[in-house]
Amino acid sequence: MAAVELTFRDGTASDLETTFALSEQAMYDSGTRQGIIPPGRELTPQNIHADWVRQRQVVEFIAAQPGRYVIAEEEGVPVAYARVVRFPRMEELTELMVMPEQQGRGIGRRLLEVAWPGDPSADLGRVVVAAGAQSDLSLYLEFGVMPVAGHWHMRQRTDVYLERRAHEIETTDPAVHLLKPDRAVAEWMRLEPQAIGHERPALHEFFARDRNCLAALDPQTGEAGALCWVSSEGEIGPAVALRPGGLVPVIIAALDRVAMTQEPAHLSVFSTSLSWWLLRRLRTLGFRVFWPSWVLCSIPLPGLDRYVPTRPPHLL
Ligand SMILES: CC(C)(COP(=O)(O)OP(=O)(O)OC[C@H]1O[C@@H](n2cnc3c(N)ncnc32)[C@H](O)[C@@H]1OP(=O)(O)O)[C@@H](O)C(=O)NCCC(=O)NCCS
Repeated sequence: MAAVELTFRDGTASDLETTFALSEQAMYDSGTRQGIIPPGRELTPQNIHADWVRQRQVVEFIAAQPGRYVIAEEEGVPVAYARVVRFPRMEELTELMVMPEQQGRGIGRRLLEVAWPGDPSADLGRVVVAAGAQSDLSLYLEFGVMPVAGHWHMRQRTDVYLERRAHEIETTDPAVHLLKPDRAVAEWMRLEPQAIGHERPALHEFFARDRNCLAALDPQTGEAGALCWVSSEGEIGPAVALRPGGLVPVIIAALDRVAMTQEPAHLSVFSTSLSWWLLRRLRTLGFRVFWPSWVLCSIPLPGLDRYVPTRPPHLL
């Protein structure tokens, strides 16, 4: 194949919408190739724009964090990009996207060499949610991360969910409350590092402005035993719990809330493949694995069995 003449430059805020569209095209192509997106379902400029309007605030928040945003261009046209976000103790690759017709020519590797140079360290780990084909995993292994768990997009039709919920026999789910933003951030700071091994204060301060926090509270201490962010557009997650089974009530409360207030065609939630209790409940409610991905990390993550990843999936 002919060598591609590429230039690399740092991205700016004015590139965000263009690279968002590029990411949608790369993911759409990956989804159709893997048979996840059925043939005939087109990705139109209208779909891309609607997704941009929905995800814009998260994308802008991610882009405003310390890290690297590198764009590869051919004759002045962006053909690929990578973004790495730096949390205090973790560098997360949030996107690595190459236009379908440019894939397999070494562009992804070159972008990673710029965005994730050298090796991860004990003080600064690396993590990525790799949504893509198995071939992508080999590339990431060269940059110091290894698969630690599956990251599954679980999905169910909303009407079927509501019907199944109505038929559920008496459950023992504890009550779930809405937390005030300040309290929510404090509880996230307490629970989340135990699950994912690093702190993300800025992310939770952002969610406190943008999403609602549902919580299951310990009746004795009043402290939260489980937390879940839900956006007004119906995005569920991240969620975290003290114990693996604790995820179930907050996720079910979030699904009920989205089903009844947003009435989307489908309900979606991410689950790691280690969340046995959550997967068991989702299974009884008829959820299916819609899009399997992987969490890759340079260090073992202590509690992915009690953690539900963020939506949209750029961040763990
Ligand atoms: C994943 C992705 C970024 C890789 O970029 P790329 O430019 O195609 O990858 P490269 O050409 O640099 O290939 C690097 C390595 O990846 C692997 N690889 C990439 N494409 C492959 C393929 N079709 N078959 C097998 N291995 C492949 C190989 O290990 C390759 O190493 P090699 O050069 O020694 O053979 C690109 O395919 C993409 O945009 N996919 C869709 C979006 C996505 O899933 N992104 C990741 C989630 S954030």
